[in-house]
Amino acid sequence: MGNPYESDKLVAEYLFFHYAGEKEFSGGMPLPEEALNFPVRVVTGLADLSLSPRRALDLGCAVGRSSFELSRQIPDVLGVDFSAAFIRAADVLKANGEISCKVVLEGERLVDFTARLPSGVNGSRICFETGDATALRTDIGTFDLVLAANLLCRLPEPARLLARLPELVAPGGQLLLATPFSWLPEYTAPEHWIGGRAATGSSWDALCRVLEPHFELQLRKDLPFLIREHSRKFQYGFSLGSRWVRRA
Ligand SMILES: C[S@@+](CC[C@H](N)C(=O)[O-])C[C@H]1O[C@@H](n2cnc3c(N)ncnc32)[C@H](O)[C@@H]1O
Repeated sequence: MGNPYESDKLVAEYLFFHYAGEKEFSGGMPLPEEALNFPVRVVTGLADLSLSPRRALDLGCAVGRSSFELSRQIPDVLGVDFSAAFIRAADVLKANGEISCKVVLEGERLVDFTARLPSGVNGSRICFETGDATALRTDIGTFDLVLAANLLCRLPEPARLLARLPELVAPGGQLLLATPFSWLPEYTAPEHWIGGRAATGSSWDALCRVLEPHFELQLRKDLPFLIREHSRKFQYGFSLGSRWVRRA
């Protein structure tokens, strides 16, 4: 399978998901309000910013909205994504404050959309780079906050990221995870799923077993999200969000 996240269609779908205003996003459909603005809510709903984190890592940042949200309060933010097309779009937004694309209206009919940075974010605090969350460069350092939103079940070997996390998060630092545990063989061979099989049991329990030796669970909450495929079709999912603090 080629990487779907490199296509113009997915770049546009994610720009719309991350940056469309609520009215534009819904196009008049009666969508559940609590499922809007997911890339903002993973930050506002999971991060403890009272700890004044100085350095943050957004893994699988896509077109960057959560990284921009982190930049409101965190002086040094690194957004990493495997898709060069997503990182290019995030960099254009950072440089120009906006980027235009065409989103699907229906069938082959496309409509212009311009994604614009919201006020109050600070692009000068962010670096975007392409990279593999399961094979990060060795000199990437440690972070006071690491976010991985809707990433785990898109990795071929999620256990490799989980094994690296204790090294990435500084002692006392926070790990923010959000995942709908949507295991699909086209992304992750079943033998690499974290739970989710008859023999391995619940994904949440399996995740806790891996993290608990190194992290203490502080918060767990459901985070609904909506991704628009076209004007009359939306993916409605529920990520399981959690905040973990790195044990000293
Ligand atoms: C479902 S999207 C979630 C994007 C974003 N975090 C959000 O919440 O909207 C998964 C993202 O992970 C990225 N990704 C997939 N495999 C990756 C890997 N090995 N390393 C880094 N990013 C990866 C994809 O390119 C895509 O941007």
